[in-house]
Amino acid sequence: MNSYKVLKIALHNDVAVIELNRPEARNALNLELRQELSAIFQSLSTNAAVRAIVITGGDKVFAAGADIKDFTTASTVQMYLRHTEHYWQSIIDCPKPIIAAVNGYALGGGCELAMHADIIVAGRSAQFGQPEVKLGLMPGAGGTQRLLRAIGKFKTMQLVLTGQLFSAEAAERMGLVSEVVEDDQTIQHAIAMAERIAAFSPIAVQQIKEVTQLGQDLPLQGALALERKAFQILFDTQDQKEGVNAFFEKRTAQYRGE
Ligand code: CAA
Repeated sequence: MNSYKVLKIALHNDVAVIELNRPEARNALNLELRQELSAIFQSLSTNAAVRAIVITGGDKVFAAGADIKDFTTASTVQMYLRHTEHYWQSIIDCPKPIIAAVNGYALGGGCELAMHADIIVAGRSAQFGQPEVKLGLMPGAGGTQRLLRAIGKFKTMQLVLTGQLFSAEAAERMGLVSEVVEDDQTIQHAIAMAERIAAFSPIAVQQIKEVTQLGQDLPLQGALALERKAFQILFDTQDQKEGVNAFFEKRTAQYRGE
């Protein structure tokens, strides 16, 4: 698991912690970092020993966005042929819960990366933003669309059109950040939250993630039916019986993912 050049990977019980590691470029997402992120998410998605994932940029910075050096002479066709959407897709397809632990800047593609997570824990001094407009560009990895769905049209328009940065607390008020903690607690707090989730039935957890994600873009009746079916499916798992029995036996349930 540690054959990566610009990622550090650690395991804490059933939680994998992915740390972006390009400090000299403020963790800017160059091709190598995107490829490694894609590879690790593919590998963790099928690793039964990992039940939840934390992604972080470390103590100082989450990620300063796409690597701007890659943009200096790029043409439309070159950008097209990079097919960076394939790299993002491995994160989108990951069935396990992902928590972003954000310290420092999460800008452009960095903010978009955080928005690929299911939960965002931010340090009090973290700063978010989609500043692409300042480069004569626009967000290209979901910035307009994921923000829109998370915080609504009027805040999104303001943020993507002005490129202004916004604080962790403002992000929490808007509903972009799940929780703000002290800077030195961000990663620990995200890991503790991930461990808590990892102790539940992985089948139930993955169903909750899938239904919540898919339901966001479905009409309500269809989404409610999807939820109901997923709820019913869980009654065929050993974990569901274990959870109910443990409740009546007043003990902690041991979920085996079966
Ligand atoms: N790409 C490439 N290199 C970057 C970078 C980026 N996105 N962000 C920072 N760096 C590099 C700097 O060029 C600098 O390198 P040198 O030491 O060789 O000069 C180094 O990282 C340190 O940067 P700063 O000196 O600027 O550090 P700072 O702490 O003063 O400021 C910052 C940090 C506010 C993040 C600032 O670097 C910055 O504004 N970066 C650009 C942010 C940005 O515009 N992001 C959007 C990119 S476009 C995008 O993401 C498109 C998309 O939607 C996919």
